[in-house]
Amino acid sequence: MLAPQTGLIASLLLAGSALCAAASVPHAQHEEAHHEKIAPKVFIVSMFAPEAEIWWNIPEFDILAHNITVPGLSPIYPDVHCTEDFEICQLITGESEINAATTVTSVAFSSLFNLTQTYFFIAGIAGVNPERATLGSATFARYAVQVALQYEIDIRELPSTYKTGYFPLGADFPDQYPTSIYGTEVFEVNDDLRHIAAKFARRGNLTDSTEAKAYRAHYNTTSGQYKAATLPPSIVECDVATSDVYYSGNILGHAFANTTKLFTNGTGDYCTSAQEDNATLEALMRAAVHKLTDFSRIIVMRTASDFDRPYPGSSATYNLLYSDAGGYTPAIANIYRAGIHVVEGILSNWETTFAGGVEASNYIGDIFGTLGGQPDFGPGRAEALVNSGAYKKRSLRR
Ligand SMILES: *[C@@H]1O[C@H](CO)[C@@H](O)[C@H](O)[C@H]1NC(C)=O
Ligand SMILES: *[C@@H]1O[C@H](CO)[C@@H](O)[C@H](O)[C@H]1NC(C)=O
Ligand SMILES: *[C@@H]1O[C@H](CO)[C@@H](O)[C@H](O)[C@H]1NC(C)=O
Ligand SMILES: *[C@@H]1O[C@H](CO)[C@@H](O)[C@H](O)[C@H]1NC(C)=O
Ligand SMILES: *[C@@H]1O[C@H](CO)[C@@H](O)[C@H](O)[C@H]1NC(C)=O
Ligand SMILES: *[C@@H]1O[C@H](CO)[C@@H](O)[C@H](O)[C@H]1NC(C)=O
Ligand SMILES: *[C@@H]1O[C@H](CO)[C@@H](O)[C@H](O)[C@H]1NC(C)=O
Repeated sequence: MLAPQTGLIASLLLAGSALCAAASVPHAQHEEAHHEKIAPKVFIVSMFAPEAEIWWNIPEFDILAHNITVPGLSPIYPDVHCTEDFEICQLITGESEINAATTVTSVAFSSLFNLTQTYFFIAGIAGVNPERATLGSATFARYAVQVALQYEIDIRELPSTYKTGYFPLGADFPDQYPTSIYGTEVFEVNDDLRHIAAKFARRGNLTDSTEAKAYRAHYNTTSGQYKAATLPPSIVECDVATSDVYYSGNILGHAFANTTKLFTNGTGDYCTSAQEDNATLEALMRAAVHKLTDFSRIIVMRTASDFDRPYPGSSATYNLLYSDAGGYTPAIANIYRAGIHVVEGILSNWETTFAGGVEASNYIGDIFGTLGGQPDFGPGRAEALVNSGAYKKRSLRR
């Protein structure tokens, strides 16, 4: 269940069980238990083994000094890993939205941790829009958009005027704002923190592969539409789409770029696609409501492992299944090469900047304004709540 040498954790578990019987715990003992909680400065969020292992056995720190089994984690990734001094920890969600939501909820609500000052650093690979970035690049998002949370009709059963089979819940057409709102459609994170993190990441020496260099050249068209795809890997600030469905092709690429623009009222800039971020953000937001996490301390970094659509003259199937584009290896390596500077930047500027937090000048949170403030996307707090069905359901019950 836990590493035998971790005396702190052993006492934590005892403290945890004492806390379950909260009412009977004397005040002093209660306080002491709180102080024993693990309070990492940075929590690295990985989604699967290769993303996690790139942080293992590195010269800067040993994140495998403590392995802590946390109830609710994935059966294949049951442990949180931490450095000897617990300043840096790592969790591995498992892939897809359900795994991400369940794992992050379990950690965020676990009595083992005090995460009120913790920076959550989502650091994974992703598909990439060749109009915005290229293989191996590291991207930093302000918005995470759950693009497939929509109606879908197979496009072959729609009139030929439709350009996509997806249209928002409660909407009659693909370009209409959803009128049935679940609350996880869009998350907006701290834009000021994003700029700082991207600046730290630019200190990194990103790597590339000869295969990726050759594959990228296919996107070099006379129109220049995919200029970003032809350039060497770099740090790019652009947004991430979340979908359990791993998609490929021009139609879905364009459709979900449109969805990102629509859901974020024109601000979102779709560049990467992955299967977890909105789920992770929803869990961190629910914990923030109870002051267990700070939603202004989240960084979403995705490195590009493959293109979301084929190069001109190629096909969506080839792009997904048969191309050896060579982006995967540099994307994994660049999680570390870019991300290590984000982690070190936070730790080395802890007292001056990060302990107190980086104030967000943008709205942060969800479409309901759950954490306060007016969302700068969506129909506004009041209307979003009405459209959530919360009120409708109540009246149905009557
Ligand atoms: C969590 O850590 C913060 C910052 O160090 C501290 O102020 C707070 O009392 C701690 N809360 C708990 C529940 O341990
Ligand atoms: C923690 O787990 C990793 C990976 O399973 C292992 O390599 C490492 O030795 C473990 N650390 C401790 C302290 O047991
Ligand atoms: C997912 O999260 C991103 C980033 O916070 C946000 O921009 C996006 O709107 C979210 N999408 C959905 C559908 O929740
Ligand atoms: C950057 O990385 C490349 C590829 O790994 C390496 O050849 C080069 O020496 C590195 N440059 C610096 C300045 O570290
Ligand atoms: C793109 O193609 C043009 C014309 O063939 C060439 O001059 C240019 O160097 C190419 N750019 C890249 C980045 O490959
Ligand atoms: C995306 O939006 C543009 C502009 O409204 C539209 O022309 C295009 O058909 C849309 N593409 C898809 C696939 O929905
Ligand atoms: C976002 O766009 C929708 C319609 O597309 C509109 O009803 C809403 O007021 C806009 N919200 C903001 C915050 O501008």
